[in-house]
Amino acid sequence: MQSPVFVGRREEIASLTALLERAADGEPGFAIVAGEAGVGKTRLVTELAGQAADSGFTILAGHCVELGAEGLPLAPLIDALRTLARTTARTELADVLGPARRGLGRLLPELDPGGAAEPAADGVQVSQLLELVLGLLGRLSARRPLLLVLEDLHWSDQSTRELVAFLIRSLRGVRVVLLATYRSDELNRRHPLRPLIASWDRLRTVQHVELRRFEPGRSPPSSARSSAPNPPPGSSTWSSTGPAATPTWWRNWPAWCAAAATRLIFPRPWRMCC
Ligand SMILES: Nc1ncnc2c1ncn2[C@@H]1O[C@H](COP(=O)(O)OP(=O)(O)O)[C@@H](O)[C@H]1O
Ligand SMILES: [Mg+2]
Repeated sequence: MQSPVFVGRREEIASLTALLERAADGEPGFAIVAGEAGVGKTRLVTELAGQAADSGFTILAGHCVELGAEGLPLAPLIDALRTLARTTARTELADVLGPARRGLGRLLPELDPGGAAEPAADGVQVSQLLELVLGLLGRLSARRPLLLVLEDLHWSDQSTRELVAFLIRSLRGVRVVLLATYRSDELNRRHPLRPLIASWDRLRTVQHVELRRFEPGRSPPSSARSSAPNPPPGSSTWSSTGPAATPTWWRNWPAWCAAAATRLIFPRPWRMCC
């Protein structure tokens, strides 16, 4: 269980909030949040997503899943699509899916219930899939700005990595923030994510946020990591970030909750032929 009290990370929240604000004006933003296991990546992203939801953003989030050497194919995308399917009214869903309904329905059948009866064609080329996702994000963000969170890229499969690289290259003039996280301590020298991170670091458009451990005396107390206590009044070891310190995020965040609730359901893997 997570504490509703968010501690510190003022600079990180400020720079990521600036990305949200620019995205709301039509300039897409990209951020990579890195740090060792347990340092607070998910908590930071959760906090930001709460703010984004309060500002009218649609939140779609998905996690990579650790599965052998190569992660589950496109797990975070499927996660995000499932959230979309379960939190969007039927007619609106049909509109935003548009021409992508059939192709993405092969990835997640509940997007295209009628399509399951049809014989599966030869899978979909990765390049087609990328275009379908790009189109979907464009249509979605034309309605409301969108925050797309892809968590734990250190467990990503190749298709997920290609998707992220493609979106960073191709999203233009849309109200989208793409935020990815990874464990920096999982990236050994031969990890396939490494060269991608290096290439993104060379791009001015990608913000790389490296989370450090809290200094002694400033870390979230253990109570913040388990139950949900109030911070000691006036304690100097607690700092909040204004609106982010309030627990409103979890009341206003159905998409995130739906993603969390459905994360354990793994749909059939995406069929691809290159
Ligand atoms: N800034 C913070 N404020 C309050 N709790 C935090 C903060 N950062 C981390 N935590 C808590 O520490 C634990 C681990 O954080 P988490 O975000 O899951 O780490 P990571 O995603 O980097 O592995 C969680 O219980 C989380 O709620
Ligand atoms: Mg995490």
